[in-house]
Amino acid sequence: MVKSFGLVVIAAASIVTCLSIIHGNKTGSVPPPPAPAITKNKNKFILENAALNYKNFCAGCHGEKMDMFVDRVWKHGNKKQDLYKVIKNGYADEGMPAFGESLSDKEINALADYILTGIKNVDKFKTNDRPVSDIFKTKKMTIKLELVAEIKDVPWGIAFLPDESLLVTERSGKLVKINKDKSLTEIRGTPEVLAKGQGGLMDVILDPGYSTNQIIYLSYSKPKTEGGRTVSTTAIMSARLDGNTLSSQKDIFVAEPYSTTQHHYGSRMQFGKDGFLYFSVGERGNEKENPQEIKGNDLGKIHRIKSDGSIPSDNPFVSTQGAEKSIYSYGHRNPQGLTINPTTGEIWETEHGPRGGDEINIIKPGNNYGWPVITYGINYNGIPISNLTEKPGLTQPVHYWIPSIGPSGLAIVSGNKYKGWEGDILSGSLRFQFLQRSVLSGSKISKEEILFKNIGRVRDVRMAPDGYLYIAVESPGRIYKLLPM
Ligand code: HEC
Repeated sequence: MVKSFGLVVIAAASIVTCLSIIHGNKTGSVPPPPAPAITKNKNKFILENAALNYKNFCAGCHGEKMDMFVDRVWKHGNKKQDLYKVIKNGYADEGMPAFGESLSDKEINALADYILTGIKNVDKFKTNDRPVSDIFKTKKMTIKLELVAEIKDVPWGIAFLPDESLLVTERSGKLVKINKDKSLTEIRGTPEVLAKGQGGLMDVILDPGYSTNQIIYLSYSKPKTEGGRTVSTTAIMSARLDGNTLSSQKDIFVAEPYSTTQHHYGSRMQFGKDGFLYFSVGERGNEKENPQEIKGNDLGKIHRIKSDGSIPSDNPFVSTQGAEKSIYSYGHRNPQGLTINPTTGEIWETEHGPRGGDEINIIKPGNNYGWPVITYGINYNGIPISNLTEKPGLTQPVHYWIPSIGPSGLAIVSGNKYKGWEGDILSGSLRFQFLQRSVLSGSKISKEEILFKNIGRVRDVRMAPDGYLYIAVESPGRIYKLLPM
């Protein structure tokens, strides 16, 4: 099959070549094109030919968009010659067929070029040039990034107090208040955190009744010692903010089980329009045991609780024997973005996939989002985690990103300050150091724009009650307000 197709392509190539020669001869008055042009056309043809060959012979296993080659840790080398060898001889034991008999050397070389050129497209996301100005032209408007404050450590979450000051968590464990005059005050009484790996003091939000009760919520990586080892888990603390001190601290949720790993804590929080507290817990790097298990396991889940930690009576698994009653949805990897759609009240979430396959999801009660049974990503070592990207009963993402952008905070634009962005989804990119604007058409992402390229790792993005957007950027830590000009 493969072989005969190769022959068809070669035959087609010869026909095209013949036709152009005939055409050239017939119209004798037109001078023949100069030599370099011929070479160029030839290359173009070979590349088109490679695209066709890729589509027919390779895409089925390696992905239409070279999904599996993007971000690859190459096993057999990434030089053209290495690719040539693999394609020609295959690796039968690994499941890579040999194409030496079906494709000519020229075609194999063209395929190697095609892949190496194609994967370079991801480099358009990367450069080390920091922006030289704080004014950015975007497709819809010009934005000035107004520096609100510099933060020593990694700023993780932002909350807006009624007196126009801001609370910002630093991953190392500090909670700071940015006062209206831009001075910083440290808030005392924060929980002890394990500030290692991806852990530390993470998100901060206000109670919907903050103006009367002064209650805030902090998510953090909570350590304990078990059998002489330090283990940790994602926990949510509620506390009263009295002046510059927290009081009445109470852990309203502590995820089980604890883990020795120091990553995938999840930990974004949001109050829904129903008044309940939604928050994410990552699978802690153990996809085999955690995300698909709802009994006695809080990891790889979105939870829904009351503000005192008790369980709403209509939670999806309240009557499932042995299930954790706080679970709202499961099958998640590392959800790092959570926001409420201001129009629909839906809960929108972003999560880190493996290599490729970061997702945007709309969270529905009781749904299984499929990790690791289905995924658009592959393992970091290049080995597929699952060949499945969809399966009946498992919820599809609204959108997935290949290559992974490393999504962080999430916001949906509302109000009238940002003309042309209304209803758009903004997500921080940790990996590529920009803010991603995704345009929604119905429930699909139709267009995307990169904002503030190379600004630094964007850790959070929020809509403030004053109608302005704020972002938190890492190293050096900075909080910016987005001012349309
Ligand atoms: C039947 C599925 C299948 C088809 C078809 C296929 N491949 Fe592969 N290919 C594989 C597998 C499996 C591997 C080993 C991947 C791994 O270990 O992650 C591989 C490996 C490779 C590698 C080496 C990657 C590395 O890490 O060094 C290259 C290059 C490659 N394939 C190119 C191609 C090209 C070009 C085509 C089309 C002409 C093609 N493959 C068709 C399954 C396939």
